[in-house]
Formats: sequence, C-alpha cells, structure tokens
Amino acid sequence: MALPQHVRIDQLASHVGDTVLIKGWVYAKRSSGKLHFLQVRDGSGIAQCVVFKGDVSDEVFQQADHLAQETSLVVTGIVREHQRNKGEYEVGVSALSVIGVPVAEFPITPKEHGVDFLMDHRHLWLRSRKQHAILRVRAELVAAIRDYFDSHGFTLVDAPILTPNACEGTSTLFETDYHGDKAYLTQSGQLYMEAAAAAVGRAYCFGPTFRAEKSKTRRHLAEFWMVEPEVAFMDLDGDQDLAEDFLVSIISRVLDRRAEELKVLERDTTVLSRVLKPFPRIRYAEAIQILRDAGHDAKHGDDFGGDEETVISARFDRPVIVTHYPVELKAFYFKRDPNDPSVTLNMDVLAPEGYGEIIGGGQREDDLVRLEAAIDLHQLPRDAFGWYTDLRRYGSFPHAGFGLGLERTVGWVCGLKHVRETNPFPRLLSRLSP
Ligand code: 4AD
Ligand code: MG
Repeated sequence: MALPQHVRIDQLASHVGDTVLIKGWVYAKRSSGKLHFLQVRDGSGIAQCVVFKGDVSDEVFQQADHLAQETSLVVTGIVREHQRNKGEYEVGVSALSVIGVPVAEFPITPKEHGVDFLMDHRHLWLRSRKQHAILRVRAELVAAIRDYFDSHGFTLVDAPILTPNACEGTSTLFETDYHGDKAYLTQSGQLYMEAAAAAVGRAYCFGPTFRAEKSKTRRHLAEFWMVEPEVAFMDLDGDQDLAEDFLVSIISRVLDRRAEELKVLERDTTVLSRVLKPFPRIRYAEAIQILRDAGHDAKHGDDFGGDEETVISARFDRPVIVTHYPVELKAFYFKRDPNDPSVTLNMDVLAPEGYGEIIGGGQREDDLVRLEAAIDLHQLPRDAFGWYTDLRRYGSFPHAGFGLGLERTVGWVCGLKHVRETNPFPRLLSRLSP
C-alpha cells in the first residue's frame, strides 16, 4: 500500500476515502466521552479531525486529550464527508505525531483581548481566523491589481524607496542619512512613474511608501502600500475612467474569489456588489455644498478630513470621484484647470461607508515654466527636481495618473474599523513592533 500523502486541508474533497497526512496546528479541541474533536488548521483551512477511542491506541487517545492550543502536529487519518454537513470534509484519525508543544498557554485565546495586547502579539494574532481571512483578501487584491494593469498594456516599473526629494509635501518625510547626505523614504513613486510613462507609455509601480504622519487616525499608517499607474497622453477625464474601470474590476474579483473569507469577516457584501459603473463625479465646490446642506459650516478652501469625506460619500451608494480642488490644498505637480487656474485638475476617489479617500491623483503640470513656478511656490529646492523638470524639457506630454492605497482598500473591502488590521505588521505613529 502506498504511504499516506501530505494533503492541504483545502484539497480534502478530492481525497475522500484516502488515508492522508495533515500538517498543522491545533486550533481548538472539544471532547465527549469516547471522542475528541480536534480543529486543525494548516493555513489553507481548518479541518475537524475526529479521534475515536475504538480506532486508536489508548496512548494516542490520551495524547489527544492533552493537546494544547497551537500545538504543531502531523495527523494521519482517513478523509470522509461530514455526516450531516454535506460538502464538509473531516478526518478520522488513526495516528498523531506531535511536533512542537507550546511552552505555555497560547496568549491569544477565544476570549476578548484589548487592542494593545493583540497588537503586541501581532506575530501570533495572525493565526486567528479573522486575521487569516484579511491576509487572504489582501493577497487577492494585490493579485487583482497586478493582473489588471498587466492585462491593460501597462509595464511594471519599480520606483526607488530612498529618494533625494519630497513628492507629497515636506511635513511627512522620513529622513535618513545617505553616506553623509540627506535622503528620504519615498512618499510616492509618482514622479518616477512620470519618467517611466515617457519610456513605456503606460507605467505602474506597486510597493511600500512612507509618511511620517503625526496623525493618529483609523486611516493613517506610517508605511503603506500604494499602486500608482501613470499614463502618457491621458487627461483628467481619462484618469477618472481608468480609476473607475480599475476599481470595478478588482472589487468584483475579490467578491468572486474571496467569498468565504468575507463571510468569516461577517462583511455585508451588498455594498461592494454595487461598485459598478458609472461612479458619480462631482467637483470640490459641489462637495462643499453637500457639507453645508448636511449642516457643516464648510467654506471654500477647507480641506476634507475623515469626517467630511464620510458626509460626502454618504450621499452616494458607490465610490464618488471629487475633482477640481483649490490649488492651495494640493501638491505642486498638479496641472491647473485652464478654465479656472484657482483649481487643479485633480481627483480623489472616496469609498462608501465612511472609508474615505482611497485614491488620489490627477493630471500633471506639463509646462516647464509653470511647473518651476509651482516648485518655487511650494518652497521646494529646484536642484533636487532637476531630473523631474527635464521631463518637460525633452518632449513634454500631457499625462495623468493616480495612487490607490492598498491598506485603506483592504479595510473597506473587509469592513474593518481600523487600518491597523489591514497590514500584516503595521507601522503606526507609536508602533514599530513586532
Ligand atoms: O493622495 P496621496 O497622498 O497621493 C499620492 O501620493 C500621489 N502621488 C499618487 C499618484 O498620483 N501617483 O496618496 C494616495 C493614496 C490615498 O488616497 C490613500 O489611499 C493612501 O494613498 N494613503 C495612505 N494610506 C494609509 N496611510 C497613510 N498615511 C496614507 N496616505 C495616503
Ligand atoms: Mg490624497
């Protein structure tokens, strides 16, 4: 007879009747008389492993009774369909081999724990069911994002992490020493994607970005992942079309492929299934009016924080695109509206249900003189941007792009209260560990 093969729990259905090996960790255990029910998880799923006194030696039966949570082990047993729950598969255990016995009680038990405690034990917390589901949704979103751009004529161009200049204002820069010179952790790969767009037409980068945010909100991380497409010969309208098509595509893929995980997270997916074209498109001035109508004393020139974004997005049943913000509120690189130079050709996409801005982008200033004037106005050092302004010296071209924050998107898709659970090892204002 062939030796039992190692099978991942999500593959049990195709091994009914086979004796297999499951390699994993004890997630939970309950007993009743002659039976011990072990919930064993292996990363692909959780399987009920049934130890029946009549099937195993006394020694194995005793051992099964004393398995602590998170003991690692190899289970040998026969795969069968659950008697009542059709479509569920369990293992009738014939042997157990313990690999790692926990040195003490596993810190994360089914009882309630405080946030700080859980964050201090993030390296262990990741094993729990909900965190596992979030990791899987995040991975699916990353794959969907890559597949979208790879199949729409984009070329992946990686941006550097150590940079000589700011992109999104100087107040959120992480500074570091670079062989005696100052360098900064990148806030955004955008400026490099503008260079790349002139080489490949449609470029995107996807990687970690950094903001030394002093804000302690449920939406801000010090380190987050951003995907940034940049397209040559595209204007603000085209940019909105791209953001819309892209979001519809990645959300529907996650709904399709991660339904199980979203169920574990108890996510109401009806809101996500309404993410369809067309998205409402409003101007900043209309957004101010929405706020005023809702009783906020908002005035032209105010920036939107989380509260304002929540009120604006509550007016719509799907993501809303807000464009044409006042110049003073936006970064130096945006092109001004030729019809009204007091506003920029920018867009923010606000997610529904109070999840706020998930995309920021727009059309870039392609005129050398106006761009240099903007750099001066923002009191940025012209020489550090020499390479960037070169893009306007050598065959300048209209172009636009955007950045989507991965963590905010994961938070919205999973319906999480705080962005800290969307990143496996989040970096927050007062947390650099584990
Ligand atoms: O609006 P932001 O700052 O735009 C840029 O960085 C542009 N250079 C992008 C581009 O046009 N290529 O950031 C873009 C997105 C936000 O909409 C948000 O989703 C996310 O990045 N983001 C953050 N996510 C978590 N924590 C933070 N501190 C974030 N700051 C921005
Ligand atoms: Mg923004």
